[in-house]
Amino acid sequence: MAFFTSATQNIPSTAEIPKHIAVIMDGNGRWARKRFLPRIAGHKRGVETVRDLVKYCASLKVEYLTLFAFSSENWRRPAEEVTFLMGLFMQALKREVTKLHQNNIKLIMIGDRSRFDAELVSQIEASEQLTAGNTGLILTIAANYGGRWDILQAVNKMQLATPQLTGFYREDHLSQYLSMNYAPEPDLFIRTGGEKRISNFLLWQLAYTELYFTDTLWPDFNEEAFNLAIQSYQKRERRFGRTSEQLIEAKI
Ligand code: IPE
Ligand code: IPE
Ligand code: MG
Repeated sequence: MAFFTSATQNIPSTAEIPKHIAVIMDGNGRWARKRFLPRIAGHKRGVETVRDLVKYCASLKVEYLTLFAFSSENWRRPAEEVTFLMGLFMQALKREVTKLHQNNIKLIMIGDRSRFDAELVSQIEASEQLTAGNTGLILTIAANYGGRWDILQAVNKMQLATPQLTGFYREDHLSQYLSMNYAPEPDLFIRTGGEKRISNFLLWQLAYTELYFTDTLWPDFNEEAFNLAIQSYQKRERRFGRTSEQLIEAKI
């Protein structure tokens, strides 16, 4: 398998559609509350947004779409909400996987599966296996995921694999054991719902990602709202520590 070294070594052009987009889908609860509905109604609507966005990203030829569905901290929510979310997750996987497969989309789940029901784990495995050979959009769903968990599990694997290197590890020794070792670092990070924080998402990989925050709540995040994020990205100048002048010179 080819591993990606740090994206900060070379500068991707912002004129193009970002190759890898990572999204914190936030604001389902507030969307529901505004309509005097239970929070779970917002989560249900949120699934519709996921479906539309996946389709849209595939049509735009985005290569990697990574969605934060459930954080390692979300277990702290009321038990009924957690149970509902797990059920919704299972239902969405069952319902959508055939369509994903027909559309040549490869589905990968990242996160700690040890707290999931056996039934959910086998549904995840079956969905991944079914779509493993697909060559279109790579859709990653982060569930029971935490950036710190990811770094720690990578450190442990690296240590076990190469104990003789202790004291001499490099970035690429570690990054090959991260859950997303198959993808370049995200070019664009989007968080809906108005909060301006990373909430323990892809901590290692977001080092040089362009960040975009919008007040739009996840169930309202339609193509138009997504296009605004892309337009914002396309106006950025990614420098990775260099000066603007250096970049202009390099282009001539
Ligand atoms: C995001 O929406 C979905 C999950 C975290 C599962 P929230 O449920 O966090 O919605 P708000 O932030 O309460 O509006
Ligand atoms: C972050 O949303 C995680 C997901 C979207 C799955 P939260 O709404 O749980 O984030 P915090 O805890 O308010 O930062
Ligand atoms: Mg929230």
